[in-house]
Amino acid sequence: MTSSVHEHVFTRHADVRTALADPHLVPSPARSGPVGSMAWLRDTVARFSTGDTHARRRALLEADLARLDPSALRLAAGSGPAGEARVIVVRTLAESLGLSDPDAIAAAITVVAGAYFGEDRADADAAVAWLLPRVLAVDPVDPEAAASRIGLLVQACDATGSLVDHARRAADDCPVAPSTEALLAETLRYDPPVRTMHRIAVRHTRVAGVAIAEGDLVTLDIAAANQDPDVYENPSTFDPERSGPPPLTFGSEPRICPGKNHALALAAGILDRAPAEIVEAMVRHVLTLADTWTAWDGRPAPADDRIYTPHKAIRRVADHLVDHLAEMEARLAGQEPQPDHWHASQITMKADLAPFTQADVDEAHSRLSRLAQIWSNRLNALTPDQLDHSPGPGWSFRKLALHLAGSVYYADAIGSLAPTERRTP
Ligand code: HEM
Repeated sequence: MTSSVHEHVFTRHADVRTALADPHLVPSPARSGPVGSMAWLRDTVARFSTGDTHARRRALLEADLARLDPSALRLAAGSGPAGEARVIVVRTLAESLGLSDPDAIAAAITVVAGAYFGEDRADADAAVAWLLPRVLAVDPVDPEAAASRIGLLVQACDATGSLVDHARRAADDCPVAPSTEALLAETLRYDPPVRTMHRIAVRHTRVAGVAIAEGDLVTLDIAAANQDPDVYENPSTFDPERSGPPPLTFGSEPRICPGKNHALALAAGILDRAPAEIVEAMVRHVLTLADTWTAWDGRPAPADDRIYTPHKAIRRVADHLVDHLAEMEARLAGQEPQPDHWHASQITMKADLAPFTQADVDEAHSRLSRLAQIWSNRLNALTPDQLDHSPGPGWSFRKLALHLAGSVYYADAIGSLAPTERRTP
């Protein structure tokens, strides 16, 4: 006879903190695998380990992170080659850790990050196998320290990239542009890049009076805890001026994110980059995903209360660029921008449902890269005063560029459709 496993969900700030501090609630252990595989990576990093093993691995992480000065990271993330936020994050960290070929490292880490909390995948196994000797070549540490360094890059990749995306989205809704620091602090609370954390009970315990049996699963709803009305005034309002306790987005002791200051520095550096680069990086990101959309199976992808298809995503990105370009040019010419009659994402047209062929990929490249070029040339020709105190009513042109970066949303709704081989059990 098997006893049933219960799942407990905690949503209150105080309960989530209690659960995070409870030594009997630990991350689900990873299963092991051959050295250099995805399973081996999970089984060898701090993130999925407990007790003394966690403490030893945590010390390895902290030693690596102590070598990376957050202010230097902010400068590097803000000034190196342009790119998608996740790529800049990993490239900057990899370079600072002395790894060679940081662009290739970033590409491999992005693949690993996509499988870190999920199932094993052949492409992720191949990426770990590729990364391991490269990490060891720079500093011939033991495999555990090498795994820790790979784990550090993986942990940084998606969470920091999403923080940048969410902060750009939040900036759209702020009537007055907040400082980058205030924008990030409130985004971490209001729209956290990590929304839930999971634990398994290794012994019977209690949280908020709830009995949790050995083997039970616990879900900690960070997004809800960050909007707990007992802790935050007007919790569902985005308020960059807010005071109050820090949100739980970076976790809590003893596993509080060790890269917290590094994450904030990297995100701030990326957010403060030149606006032209931000638009170019957005278009590059969209086109990288569009390159995989010939594999689309014809089923629209839901996102919030809308649906997206490859054609619709390209249409929305192009229309968004055209719309704000017309607005900027009108304002620069002292004219009123045209009134908004777009139906935008609310409608899905018959043409949106058509298959996405290689010819469509090619045309999307030609169309979007030219639009990005026009935007980039225009933004680069503006003075800082025109960027920040732009003529006519509406957002500053710097803010318009940041707003456009949010167009990744349409393409991310479809995501990458690159075929991934599944491992046979
Ligand atoms: C906004 C960005 C980030 C967020 C929201 C975030 C959040 C978190 C959270 C919640 C945990 C603990 C997970 C748990 O207790 O189950 C964690 C662990 C970790 N984070 Fe971050 N993180 C971010 C960026 C970074 C960066 C930039 C780095 C490295 C430079 C990093 C490295 C790590 C590592 C190595 C761990 C595992 C620590 C351990 O298991 O003891 N994170 N992160």
